[in-house]
Amino acid sequence: MNIHGTHTRTVWLEGHHVCMIDQPLLPHQVETHRCLAWEQTADAIRDMRIRGAGAIGATAGYGMAQAALMARDAYFRGDLQLAADGLRHTRPTAQNLFWAIDQVLSAALGAATPSEGRLAAVAAAEAIADGDARACRLIGQHGAHLIADGTRVATHCNAGWLAFVDWGSALSPIYTAHRAGRKVHVWVDETRPRRQGARLTAFELGQEGVPHQVIPDVALGHLMANGQVDLVIVGADRIAANGDVANKIGTYMVALAAQAHGVPMYVAAPTTTIDPDCPDGSHIPIEHRSPDEVHLVDGWSIDHQSPCTVRTTPQGSPALNPAFDVTPAHLLAGIITEHGIVQATASALAALPRPTA
Ligand code: MRU
Repeated sequence: MNIHGTHTRTVWLEGHHVCMIDQPLLPHQVETHRCLAWEQTADAIRDMRIRGAGAIGATAGYGMAQAALMARDAYFRGDLQLAADGLRHTRPTAQNLFWAIDQVLSAALGAATPSEGRLAAVAAAEAIADGDARACRLIGQHGAHLIADGTRVATHCNAGWLAFVDWGSALSPIYTAHRAGRKVHVWVDETRPRRQGARLTAFELGQEGVPHQVIPDVALGHLMANGQVDLVIVGADRIAANGDVANKIGTYMVALAAQAHGVPMYVAAPTTTIDPDCPDGSHIPIEHRSPDEVHLVDGWSIDHQSPCTVRTTPQGSPALNPAFDVTPAHLLAGIITEHGIVQATASALAALPRPTA
C-alpha cells in the first residue's frame, strides 16, 4: 500500500536489521524504526512500535531470522530457542506471533548445519511476510463482493495494511472495492484507549483516497439505529476453533449493536490467525496493558508543532485496561479468509487448509 504515493510494506528485513514503520509516530510523522538484534525486535513488538496480528507475526518471523543470522555456530540451537522464548513473551493474544515463531524455528533447526539453518530461517521469514501479503490481497478479492456501490462500512481498530505486511484484512475488501470504482464510505471509530482507528485506519484510508469519517467509539450504535451503517468488517487477533473471535477491546460491543440493528458483521483474517488448539473464546489469553494507556493520550501539539502527551483522568483514579475482548461466533455473519468467506463454525473452520510458511 502507499505512503505519499510510494508503495511501502509495514515491516522488512535489511541485512540482519529488522525495519518497520514506527507506528506510535503516525499519523503526524512517518519514520522507520530499525532493530539491530532480535532483542530490539522483541521490544518493538512489546512497545507496539509495530502492532496488529499479521504484522507482529511477520516481525517475529524476521526476529527469528535475525537471531539465526547472529547465532554462534556452537550454540546455534540454544541461541535460537532463547530468541523464540523471548519473542513469544512479547504479547499474548495474537495467534500469528506464535505461528510465525514456530515456522522459522523448525525451518532453522531442521537444517543440517548452522549455515544452512541461517538460510532456511531467512527464507521462512520472507515466506511468512510474502504469504501474509498474498493472503490479505485474496481476502480483499473475496470480501469486495460484500461491498456494493454506495456501501457504508464500519470498522473498529486498525486491521489495515499497518496491521499486516500489506493490504490488511478488514480494510483489504474496502481498498479492492474502491480501486474497482465502487463508492464506499467508511465509519472509522477512534478505538480508545490507543486510538488505532483515529490514528492508523484514518491515515491509511486517507493515503488511499477512500472517503471516511472518524467517529467517537460511542457513536456507532446511534449511526446503526439511524440506518447509516450497511456492513461491519473487523479484524481478528485470534480465532478459536469454534469461531469465537478475539479482537481489539470494544469489538464485542460493536457486534451487539450490529445484531440489534440487523447489520451484518464479518471478521476478516488470514488462516494464520485461526488457533485450532483453542476450543473456544474463553481459552484465548486476553492481554491487559498498562493503566497509563487509559490515563494518558498522545497527540500532536498544535501550539508547539511537536508530539505531546496529556493526562485526562484525575490523579488517584485507578484505571483498568483489557486490550482485547471476545465476540461469540453466533454474532458473526461470516469470516473472510484467503480461501473465501466461511461461516464462523467449527466445521467450516476445520475444513480450511492449514497455513504453511
Ligand atoms: O493491540 P493491537 O493494536 O496490536 O491490536 C490488534 C489489532 O490491531 C486489532 O485488534 C485488529 O482489529 C486485529 S489485528 C489485525
